[in-house]
Amino acid sequence: MTKLTAAITAVGAFVPEYRLTNKILETMMETTDEWITTRTGIKERRILKDKDKGTSYLAIKAAEDLIRKGNIDPKEIDLVLLGTATPDMPVASTAVYVATKIGATNAFAFDIQAACCNFLFGMATAARFIESGKYKKVLLIGADKMSSILDYTDRTTCIIFGDGAGAVLFEPNEEGLGLQDEFLRSDGSGREFLKIDAGGSLLPPSEETVKNKQHYVFQDGKSVFKFAVSNMAEVASKIMESNNLTHNDVNWLVPHQANKRIIDATANRMELEPSKVMMNIQKYGNTTSATLPLLLNDYEKQLKKGDNLVFAAFGGGFTWGSIYLKWAYNTA
Ligand code: UT7
Repeated sequence: MTKLTAAITAVGAFVPEYRLTNKILETMMETTDEWITTRTGIKERRILKDKDKGTSYLAIKAAEDLIRKGNIDPKEIDLVLLGTATPDMPVASTAVYVATKIGATNAFAFDIQAACCNFLFGMATAARFIESGKYKKVLLIGADKMSSILDYTDRTTCIIFGDGAGAVLFEPNEEGLGLQDEFLRSDGSGREFLKIDAGGSLLPPSEETVKNKQHYVFQDGKSVFKFAVSNMAEVASKIMESNNLTHNDVNWLVPHQANKRIIDATANRMELEPSKVMMNIQKYGNTTSATLPLLLNDYEKQLKKGDNLVFAAFGGGFTWGSIYLKWAYNTA
């Protein structure tokens, strides 16, 4: 029997219209466009201003874009996976709501939570379902309304993040294209460096937690940076090694967009020239679960069937990893 691999066959995306530029941030807090640009590479990020819309809104829009572009019948989707660090609600899976809203009425659905590795770990999860032979269409969405958990008086953290969503469809492939290999890691000793303290079972919401701003993201940027730089570079070079890939074999690095300096360090370690490195951090900032599919959407037209893509990400928890995937289609 031919071995089934899990290939990406369609891509979609959505970002809200409002652009929060570095210049606007200068009017809100003690910061400068120059500091943000040189320290992070970010120029602007998109923000979902509507108070009555949550992450599901972004996810639905991205999925609808994919369904339209890929000419997909949503009733044929078997599984909807949603990577998000900002679900609509703590209980009641956002993925389930999204699946119903997009008309994927024959699918089952669940959320994935591994912070900035949501999409990367989601790719590995989607692949297992496809490779089993039982599921033919798995929709993986990465969506986050990061603005809902940011303290806009904390200049060390709020300047990095933005809102957005991206989606890919995985389908079985018999030509050996799609996901080839993965190297996924986690380390719970990292949770003190990047977290939301309150609102979970450990510290339920109270007047005190609201007063102490414990429902916002806390990040010890310097420590996270140190771990991210070394670990993302390490897993990216490791996956190349174990698949006998040299820098000449890799067509694209698809790196999580947290900081341009982290991306550059990863590319350097892989000995990749900048033209092979996908980057859109300047436009969107760090959209957590959405960075990788937003890159695929932006670069889709440049991707060719058979291209070797190396994905790499690092996130809170800590979580990190790399994936080697062969692109499966040309865009007409
Ligand atoms: O995606 C999930 C994983 N997350 C990441 O990978 C993020 C990793 N961390 C980072 O990207 C960086 O640590 C940051 C961009 C968050 C911060 O950059 P940094 O170079 O590590 O800055 P820092 O925190 O060491 O701060 C350096 C200085 C400090 O001033 P002093 O103490 O040297 O006087 C900060 O107070 O820069 C100051 N600073 C700012 N100045 C202007 C911090 N934030 C700002 C700001 N504008 N927005």
